[in-house]
Amino acid sequence: MRGVLLHGGLGTRLRPLTHTGPKQLIRVAGKPVSQWVLEDLRDAGVREIGVVLGTVSPLRVVEYYGDGSWLGVELTYIYQGYPYGLAHAVYLARDFVGDEPFVVYLGDNILAGGIREYVERFLESGADAMVLLAEVEDPRRFGVAKFDEGGRLVGLVEKPRVPPSNYALVGVYMFRPPHIFRAIEGLRPSWRGELEITDAIQRLIDWGLRVDYAVVEGWWKDTGTPGDILEANRLLLDEKIPGARLEGVVEPGARVEGRVVVEEGARVESGAVVRGPAYIGRGSRVGPGTYVGPYTSLGWNTVLENVEIENSVVMDGARLVNAGRVVDSLVGAEAEIATSTGLPSGHRFIVGEKARIRL
Ligand code: DAU
Repeated sequence: MRGVLLHGGLGTRLRPLTHTGPKQLIRVAGKPVSQWVLEDLRDAGVREIGVVLGTVSPLRVVEYYGDGSWLGVELTYIYQGYPYGLAHAVYLARDFVGDEPFVVYLGDNILAGGIREYVERFLESGADAMVLLAEVEDPRRFGVAKFDEGGRLVGLVEKPRVPPSNYALVGVYMFRPPHIFRAIEGLRPSWRGELEITDAIQRLIDWGLRVDYAVVEGWWKDTGTPGDILEANRLLLDEKIPGARLEGVVEPGARVEGRVVVEEGARVESGAVVRGPAYIGRGSRVGPGTYVGPYTSLGWNTVLENVEIENSVVMDGARLVNAGRVVDSLVGAEAEIATSTGLPSGHRFIVGEKARIRL
């Protein structure tokens, strides 16, 4: 079984956080979203993985993951450039997958329970394709499944105005070549100008091929919007940080309570309080007068001084100095928030990379 990780796209819904970096590299609970994906693939026994790159800083992805050996996987990079659609991206991977069964995993999707059992089920099944579904309240922003009265999957519709069910397509798809590639060859761009994988799978169904489905248990998150990222961060901190791990320095006079990770090279200084679940990334400095509250993740080399922060994600190299109270916020890489006046009552931010904010 091979893997295809989609790491392209424009990330428009996450601007200004994605002007200069791919959205899949946004670090939640200490790791880029796509690293959670790669680890999930690896844990499912999928080690040979093709990574499809887009136009937004593709070299950053290559720099970060390299050949993948540090994660126990073997990566092959495939350049897509402009995002002509998921089916277009999958088609570019056809030489890489050859005639092996493969799993396509969208680089911005996270599944709590992982994909292992579905991969096993697919490999045993002999099906031509398998999709994963999740029951959601409002499926209109997803691909949506349509069933007949007997519960058989008969159709898939991309972002329907009137959804035929509440079952959304999760961004994990499994295929056995060659039919999927033949299906993609006959596609025309959709109303959003993309070659849709949803339409390609619909063709498999229409041709009478076997398309299985499984409903995922546990939570699933498409981290397409700022709210989704904060929620994924909360869910991952709860799920993946079972206890405190203090590898950096916690100075005497600092308080670290609950499930908190302080990575190597990070420093919680005297007069700072960190209350978990929280993650303090490598090289970060939590200075005096700072309160880092539950469900906050700090990236690498951030600096916080005299600030109260809660339920937020702060990306690499950002600085929050005398910034008052910051809640439910996403602070882009190398952004700076500072104030010279007294403490304001509370702020919610989505701050782009390298932005400077003076309060
Ligand atoms: O998250 C699940 C949903 O993902 C499914 O329910 C939908 O059926 C499916 O079409 C997809 O919808 P999105 O609109 O959320 O897809 P998005 O454009 O955000 O792209 C998903 C990922 O694939 C993202 O990590 C970027 C990457 N991508 C996207 C396109 C269009 C590529 O690598 N290349 C592309 O051409």
